[in-house]
Amino acid sequence: YGDASQKIDYVFKLVLIGDSAVGKSQILARFARNEFSLDSKATIGVEFQTRTLVIDHKSVKAQIWDTAGQERYRAVTSAYYRGAVGAMLVYDITKRQTFDHIPRWLEELRSHADKNIVIILIGNKSDLEDQRAVPTEDVNEFAQKEGLFFLETSALQATNVESAFMTLLTEIF
Ligand code: GTP
Ligand code: MG
Repeated sequence: YGDASQKIDYVFKLVLIGDSAVGKSQILARFARNEFSLDSKATIGVEFQTRTLVIDHKSVKAQIWDTAGQERYRAVTSAYYRGAVGAMLVYDITKRQTFDHIPRWLEELRSHADKNIVIILIGNKSDLEDQRAVPTEDVNEFAQKEGLFFLETSALQATNVESAFMTLLTEIF
């Protein structure tokens, strides 16, 4: 999980967005600290965490920003997106509404972020298969049409969290 003494070749800013309670903060906790909490509090304002990895013999520091899904707790949008080279657009596979809001989040991204930003769509909580409300095939089609990467993850079970960040980082790199 990173060695503080190593020299950094690249710093990449990534942003997490999506409705409240889809699991953005827990995806980040899993990736940055290999932690998970079931009684995660809603994020207020902006938080960030970093993790340094080696990609192609270079050390890459991922600086990942996390904000509130709830409008009233959100930080200034333009500052949040400034300098971001990658975005994770997260919905909850058990809550249809969180997927239905994805086009709105995409619109916000496309109006505030750099036009070359790399975007991955994430269907989180794949461990709750028995409560699934969003079929994978529908999202595959949507992602293809919009030109987005797409993966289903579980922050709880640590499924695909690493792959999701690696997909973004290697594409940016
Ligand atoms: P805001 O900060 O309000 O925008 O929400 P958030 O998107 O950061 O959600 P958060 O990470 O706080 O998670 C919300 C709830 O979902 C918490 O109870 C988490 O424990 C739970 N959760 C997050 N990821 C998973 C997952 O992969 N599986 C399951 N079963 N629960 C999860
Ligand atoms: Mg949060």
